[in-house]
Amino acid sequence: MMKSPVRAVLSATLALIAAFLLNTILADARSSYEFRRADAATKKACNALRSQLPFGRVTNQGLGPDYLVSVQTYYSQLQAKRFPACVAYPQNAQEVSTVVKAIKANNLQFAVKAGGHQFNNWSSSDGGVLIDLQRLTAKRFDDESKQVAYFEPGNRWRDVYAYFVPQGVTPVGGRIGGVGSGLALGGGLSYLSAEHGLACDTFTALDVVLADGSIVKATADNEYKDLFKSLKGGGNRFGIVTGYHTKLVPVGKVYSGIVIYTQDQWEKVIKATSDFVSTNTDKKAAIITTVDSFGILPDPTTKLNSFIILFNVYNGADPGTTFDAFTNIPHVLDTRSTGDYIKAAEMVDIGTISQGGFYSNVVPLKVGSDREQTLVNNFKVWSKEHIGQYILATVDYQPIAKSITDASRAAGGNALGGPEGPYIFVNMLLAFDPNLAADKQEALRASWDKLTNSIPHDEDIPKFLNDAGFRQNILQSYEQYPLMQATSRKYDPTGLFVKNQPGPNFST
Ligand SMILES: Cc1cc2nc3c(=O)[nH]c(=O)nc-3n(C[C@H](O)[C@H](O)[C@H](O)COP(=O)(O)OP(=O)(O)OC[C@H]3O[C@@H](n4cnc5c(N)ncnc54)[C@H](O)[C@@H]3O)c2cc1C
Ligand SMILES: *[C@@H]1O[C@H](CO)[C@@H](O)[C@H](O)[C@H]1NC(C)=O
Repeated sequence: MMKSPVRAVLSATLALIAAFLLNTILADARSSYEFRRADAATKKACNALRSQLPFGRVTNQGLGPDYLVSVQTYYSQLQAKRFPACVAYPQNAQEVSTVVKAIKANNLQFAVKAGGHQFNNWSSSDGGVLIDLQRLTAKRFDDESKQVAYFEPGNRWRDVYAYFVPQGVTPVGGRIGGVGSGLALGGGLSYLSAEHGLACDTFTALDVVLADGSIVKATADNEYKDLFKSLKGGGNRFGIVTGYHTKLVPVGKVYSGIVIYTQDQWEKVIKATSDFVSTNTDKKAAIITTVDSFGILPDPTTKLNSFIILFNVYNGADPGTTFDAFTNIPHVLDTRSTGDYIKAAEMVDIGTISQGGFYSNVVPLKVGSDREQTLVNNFKVWSKEHIGQYILATVDYQPIAKSITDASRAAGGNALGGPEGPYIFVNMLLAFDPNLAADKQEALRASWDKLTNSIPHDEDIPKFLNDAGFRQNILQSYEQYPLMQATSRKYDPTGLFVKNQPGPNFST
C-alpha cells in the first residue's frame, strides 16, 4: 500500500505530466491563424509546381485540411506559428526532385519537415515552400537475410518499430515513439546506442535528392561517400533523404520504465548518474536522468513541482543489479517492468505533440568534476526565480559511454567525431507559453543561456545537433566540419540547402 503523502506526490507528478502532454494546461495556447502574405513570386511558383505534380500534391496557404494539419503538427508551438506559402507532399524521390528543382529555379525559401520535432524553427517556413515528407511512409526488409531495413522519412519511430520489432529486430532509432526520422540525420541517441552506436552509425545507404534535383544513393564506399559521412549527423545542410537503409539489430524482451524522485534526493541521483557514466560497462543498460521543474501549478497539497525523472531501459528481461545505485535511493514511483521494445518507446507519452514553445541548448560535459552537481544547484535557483514564466524547465543528462564512441568508430565514423567517451550530452530544455510576447521570450532565452553557461563546457567534445540551440555553433564543433563544408560546395555550389533553408549555423 502506498502511504498518502507518497500518493499525493505521485498524483501531482502524473497530473502535471499528463496535463502538459495532453494539452490541458494552456487550453487557449494554440495560435489563432495569422497567415503571412506570401510574396507574388512564391505564390506563382507554388501554382506552377501544383500543375507539374499529380493532383493533391501541393496545397496553398489556408486551403484545406492538409495545410492546417501540416502547420499544426509540430512539437514546438512556435513552429506552428509559421505559415508557408504552400505545402508540397511528394510521394516518392522523383516528386521530391521536381519540388527541389522548382525551388532552385525560382530561388525560393523552403523548409523540410519529417516528424516536426525540431526545437528551433528549422522545419517550418514563413512564406516559403514547406516540403512535408509525411506521405513517404514505405518500410520493408531491404535484403533477403533480413539484416537491413528500408524505411522512408515520413515514418515516426513508432511506425518503424511497429513494423520490425514483432519480427525480432529493430533499427537503432529514437527513444520516444512519437519522434520523427529526422532524429537520425542529427546523429540520433537511442537506448541501444551503447551496443550499436548512434542511429546514424547504422546507416548502410541513404537515398538523397541533391540541390540540382538529381537522385543519388550514398554509401560508405561509393562516389558519394563524402555526402554519406556528412549526413551521418550533419542534419539538413546537404540534401533531402528520401530513403534510409539501416542495419537491423536483434531485440527481444526489454526492461523499461521511469523512476521518479523528489527534490530532497537530487544530489544522490546526480551522484549516481555521474558514477554510472564513468563506471558502467554493461552495454545493455541505458539511462537518461532528467531534472524537471514545472513552472506553473505546484500541486496544492504537496506544493511540489520539481522532480527527477529517470528514464531507465535494459535491453534484456532482467537488469540484475545494474541499476541498484539508482533504486536504492528513495523514490516515489517506479514503473519499470519487462515488456518489448515498443513498450520502451511508449513508456511516457511525451512524443507526439506538446503545447509549449521551446528553447534548447546542449552542454558537452566530461565527468569527474562537480559540474553536474553545480549545474543542478544553479537550475534549482533558476527554476524558483522564474516560477510562473515557464511551463517546464528540464536538464537532461544523456550518457555517452565509451562503447558509443567505439561503435561509431567501428562503423566508419560519423560527422561528429570527437574524443572517446565517456562524457555527457546535457540537454537543457525550456518550454514556455508560445504566445509569450517576443521580448519576454527573448528575456527567457537569455536567462536560459546564462544558466547554460553557468558552468564551463568542454569545448573538445562535439555539441549534439539534436539538442542544439540556434545560437550555438554545433556543426563547427564537429570533427568533420571541413568535410561537410567541402561536401556542401561540391553537391550544392549555390548553397540552396544552406541559404534558402533554416538550419544550424553553417558557412561554406
Ligand atoms: C519528445 C522528444 C524526444 C526526443 N528524443 C530524442 C532521442 O531519444 N534521441 C535523439 O537523438 N534526439 C531526440 N530528440 C530530438 C530530435 O532528434 C530532434 O528534434 C529531431 O530533429 C526530430 O526529428 P523530426 O523528424 O521529428 O523533426 P523535424 O523537425 O521534422 O526534422 C528535424 C530536422 O531534420 C531535417 N530533416 C528531417 N527529415 C529530413 C530529410 N529526410 N532530409 C533532409 N532533412 C531532413 C529538418 O529540416 C529539420 O532540420 C527528441 C525530441 C523530442 C521533442
Ligand atoms: C520561431 O518562430 C516563431 C513564430 O514566428 C517566433 O515567435 C520565434 O521567436 C521564432 N524562434 C526563433 C528562435 O527565431
